[in-house]
Amino acid sequence: MQKRSFSPVELDAADPLRSFRSEFVINDPDLIYLDGNSLGRLPVRTASLMRQAVEQEWGVRLIRGWNEEWMALSERIGGKIARLIGAEPDEVILTDSTSVNLFKLAFAAMKYQADRDIILTDSLNFPSDLYVFQGLDAILTNACFVDVLKSDDDIITNEEFLLDRIGKETALVALSHVAYKSAFLYDMKRITEGAHEQGAMALWDLSHAVGAVPVDLNGAGADLAVGCTYKYLNGGPGSVAFLYVRKDLQDKLINPIWGWFAEQNPFEFTREFRPAAGIRRFLVSSPPVLSARATEPGLDLLLEAGMDRVRTKSVAQTEYLIRLCDEYLAPLGFELASPRDSAIRGSHVSIRHLEAFRINQAMISPPDGARQVIPDFRAPDLIRLGVAPLYNSFQDIYDTIHRIRQIVDGGIYQKMSGKREVVT
Ligand SMILES: Cc1ncc(COP(=O)(O)O)c(C=O)c1O
Repeated sequence: MQKRSFSPVELDAADPLRSFRSEFVINDPDLIYLDGNSLGRLPVRTASLMRQAVEQEWGVRLIRGWNEEWMALSERIGGKIARLIGAEPDEVILTDSTSVNLFKLAFAAMKYQADRDIILTDSLNFPSDLYVFQGLDAILTNACFVDVLKSDDDIITNEEFLLDRIGKETALVALSHVAYKSAFLYDMKRITEGAHEQGAMALWDLSHAVGAVPVDLNGAGADLAVGCTYKYLNGGPGSVAFLYVRKDLQDKLINPIWGWFAEQNPFEFTREFRPAAGIRRFLVSSPPVLSARATEPGLDLLLEAGMDRVRTKSVAQTEYLIRLCDEYLAPLGFELASPRDSAIRGSHVSIRHLEAFRINQAMISPPDGARQVIPDFRAPDLIRLGVAPLYNSFQDIYDTIHRIRQIVDGGIYQKMSGKREVVT
């Protein structure tokens, strides 16, 4: 049997995706960036595309740009995202933000099933998602109640309990496919089928899943989905999000915001709204063209790499990270706060420590002049290490763990103030 290598140099040398790193702007080669699950790196192609979009498309073509390129953007790029998430091109569209899309689709689902009134979600879901559901509860008086299943350990949700909780009053089961803190990866097919057995719909937030794990919405029979493009898709800060509505549902659902881009022909300027057929009826407004343009190069890189290869590398890297944590960080008081089994884990790993905040600070702003490492902190005690296989190396992971060890072992974190910025 061949001996398994744990040398980061050997692992990087054997990595078939290693050339993708040079597709990203890495101006500071000393910086280790493990936060691609919050904001992905800038693709080199995006920098030049943005220059062209601003100087040529906007600067020269002016209003003509709408017919030449911009009107088709939301559907064209949506069609590319569809290839990453197992959907047909006309089932996905680039539009609005994740939270706004979630509101539109959750509202549509509640309206469609007026004889049911429960949205079932869980405590691992992203707070903005929970707020959107609470908002629906507040405005759909007596027609929407939010049931939040509590995870026992904040790491996984017991899927049996979840399935048992779906009943005849459940309209919608709404979950994040990969949980934002622990990276717990749900069995989308099983839960979607469980929802359907009870006559409910399933809505998936793919923000931490798209570009990180293979997703098969059609294979799972999913009804609805939303997701962001600024994490593993590398679309840029606050870049436009996307939504998915299964084909057979599109003309049955009502988008609660009747903006002109959801009209059959916005430039006829009719006084009465006539919803467009198909996925376009879930649009609202003029697309933020520059932001939409910026989402494409990162998407193309993932399509070139192929999600199977991305997933294989992500599993190898997160397993490597956990192995190093067990060896070097567990003796220093760290605990794994993500599933150990890669079959139910996305592409980030959270580790727990009482001093997580100050350790995180010392990684980002080293008081001892060491190299910087950027992860992120999630209250109260988690350091979240995001692995983006297109640009993170095994060496990044090895060096990060050894840097954390040095910060704790050497008491370096004690030099940090513990004062929190707005964004952690
Ligand atoms: C899982 C998940 N859902 C929703 C959001 C919110 O996205 P947006 O700011 O586009 O509404 C985020 C943001 O990080 C997220 O991680």
